[in-house]
Amino acid sequence: MKIDGVAHRSIWPAEHGRSVHIIDQTQLPHRFVTTELTTPEAAATAIRDMWVRGAPLIGATAAYGLAMALARDPSDAGLAQAAAQLAATRPTAINLRWALDAVTASVAPLPESARAAAAWAKAGEICDEDVEVNHAIGRHGLTLIREIAARKNQGKGGGKGGGEPVNILTHCNAGWLATVDWGTATSPIYQAHDAGIPVHVWVDETRPRNQGAGLTAWELGRHGVSHRLVVDNAGGHLMQHGLVDMVIVGTDRTTATGDVCNKIGTYLKALAAHDNGVPFHVALPSSTIDWTVSDGLREIPIEERSGREVTHLTGLTEDGRSETIAITPPTTEATNPAFDVTPARLVTSLITERGICAASADGLASLFPERRAAS
Ligand code: MRU
Repeated sequence: MKIDGVAHRSIWPAEHGRSVHIIDQTQLPHRFVTTELTTPEAAATAIRDMWVRGAPLIGATAAYGLAMALARDPSDAGLAQAAAQLAATRPTAINLRWALDAVTASVAPLPESARAAAAWAKAGEICDEDVEVNHAIGRHGLTLIREIAARKNQGKGGGKGGGEPVNILTHCNAGWLATVDWGTATSPIYQAHDAGIPVHVWVDETRPRNQGAGLTAWELGRHGVSHRLVVDNAGGHLMQHGLVDMVIVGTDRTTATGDVCNKIGTYLKALAAHDNGVPFHVALPSSTIDWTVSDGLREIPIEERSGREVTHLTGLTEDGRSETIAITPPTTEATNPAFDVTPARLVTSLITERGICAASADGLASLFPERRAAS
């Protein structure tokens, strides 16, 4: 997507083909800093410490990390050990394992001398495919936004760029920064905006790491999409007052039965949407579906992060210094689950690269029939 008119991806290989560049997302929105990852250890750190984050992007970064590991040790043992180390960086998003499995499957049959180059090429394919898939998600999701725009503006004669905006609430950052490009939840939004359909986005701040405030607001603003930041607790109130036409969120792992695991707080938005008759859509690449899991609540591992993310805040002082402050008494301890599970019954639809379906085993099987046979 564009930053002030210039197209960017969130990860890109160095020209010599031995390292990758990333945007250090811990520095946003205050500073746009890019970093070069040259070793598998650096790739693992970037994922664990959330310089890169978002399910598809951590998969892409891990794929490059594995290619770097194979340049050092292309043996079967080296491959298995590096894949295990990268997989252990974050537990919830299934794309991480998916990408590592894809690279492993493509290099394992090859002689050791060919593995690093093949892994590098596969990581590039994973990135290019992510861009295409997210673009397709956007095309499908756009139909939902168009329908609402048409309904809201019926008889009002709103032309291109005019009329009542479609108000979309989103949680966390499922934007281009969370993927290689386009984003998942944001892809329909960007495509509607680019098509001249008026959209307005309610951005949940997404405590404790504030991915909404720091990342979603930043990228929407840079692309010129109308938006407003709200505290996480505001969504229900906005819905009660008719100020939200639809919710679109992303997901870190979706079960074969349509349960959706996403950033902590997503479940509460789904409950509020359900109570207020607001459609609640989840946008996802099929690499986010864990076909081996059918009960999201019991089977998906939920990442527990440091309580310090809850008890402290980091931001920019008025004179431009980054500062971390405590917001609790020093003895207060915090629990910090990073994700929650929204049961399929609260999800209006899943927006995938193959189209839109019900959040159910049958819905997913209608789009991915080859998977029904496999599971
Ligand atoms: O902890 P994060 O920032 O990696 O969490 C990201 C999310 O929860 C996103 O909504 C999800 O990965 C979907 S990204 C397209």
